[in-house]
Amino acid sequence: MKEKITVIIAAAGSGERAKLNKNKILEDLGGVSVIRRTFDAFSSSGLIDEYIVAAKREEIPVIKPLLPDFVKFAVGGATRTESVKNALNLTTGEIVLIHDGARPFVSKTVISNCMESAIKHGSGVAAIPTRDTVAESSETPKYLGKKGLLLIQTPQAFKTAKIKAAYEKAGDKVFNDDGEVYLNSFGTLNFADGDKDNIKLTYPEDFNFNANKETRFGTGFDCHRLVENRKLILGGVEIPFEKGLLGHSDADALTHAIMDAVLSACAMRDIGFWFPDSDEKYKGADSMKLLAEVLRITGEKGFKAESVSAVIMAEKPKLSKYIPAITERLANALCVAPDKVGVSATTLEGLGFVGREEGICVHANAVVVKR
Ligand code: CTP
Ligand code: MG
Repeated sequence: MKEKITVIIAAAGSGERAKLNKNKILEDLGGVSVIRRTFDAFSSSGLIDEYIVAAKREEIPVIKPLLPDFVKFAVGGATRTESVKNALNLTTGEIVLIHDGARPFVSKTVISNCMESAIKHGSGVAAIPTRDTVAESSETPKYLGKKGLLLIQTPQAFKTAKIKAAYEKAGDKVFNDDGEVYLNSFGTLNFADGDKDNIKLTYPEDFNFNANKETRFGTGFDCHRLVENRKLILGGVEIPFEKGLLGHSDADALTHAIMDAVLSACAMRDIGFWFPDSDEKYKGADSMKLLAEVLRITGEKGFKAESVSAVIMAEKPKLSKYIPAITERLANALCVAPDKVGVSATTLEGLGFVGREEGICVHANAVVVKR
């Protein structure tokens, strides 16, 4: 029989250290609140049957509309211990995962690690080994070392009956977390693998980094006529062929499509707008220099291209042996690893103007991040 799984999301704090002048779980992270992101992490895991959010009484009307109707609410207390205790009273699952509302980046793997450990051993507390040495700061400082020392995260999963009993026994004493409450009662506790990305948003800088990061997607297309007495340049690489692409600049259709994809992701018009072909300055221009310019103007607005993908439509020449050189050149220009640049080539089976070898077309996509 599959156990019923409940998650308790503790959201009744004040977020004082975050200095946002409001409860940090209400902060907007790229258009979605922290509490909604945390909920979504559990919901998308597909592992949870019941959701309970512990919230301050006066904040329930604010948080409720951010979450689906089936989420239950428990009234939070003055301490996290108290908030969790109130939520445990509403818990009907056999297994309960207790999680900080301020940890929106928890993965399905971590959720599942904790849950499996609780099913097997009674408890499963997400933890990671400390990378840095830990010392106690006091008048007489003491080194605790790092070997065998863990940094404790959430979720902290338990057999519900056991953690409820442990909380009963704890009375009004305040504990660091649920694992400590459990340990206090049973003298034993199991850890499960957490991960380093599962951070608890705590200080102002945790929010600056995340709140401003926004991923954008862009698409670009270019097409040039194939003529004699021109070089064939694609992605900044000269390709030996009896014909080349005709254009005002060097007619590097691949680089042009990528520039348009990046500009489009940033909603910053297109290359025709920035480099008009009526301008003599761009006659015969090296498109790789134009790409550098596109990266500079988009960079000024806080954008960074993270990956690009393009398909070159050409009947001839065969391009496959040039793809590694093209990929490397573009990756260098974009300041990304070569495995972030996907370039493919295809013929059009003799169809249309590409099929008649009259021209070459390129369709490109770009993923751009705004910080
Ligand atoms: N929490 C809670 N009830 C409390 C205190 C905290 O449910 N009385 C929740 C917080 O909302 C948070 C989690 O416990 O999601 C972890 O606590 P912490 O990071 O300390 O959050 P805050 O107490 O809100 O922040 P601060 O300590 O900076 O005020
Ligand atoms: Mg706190």
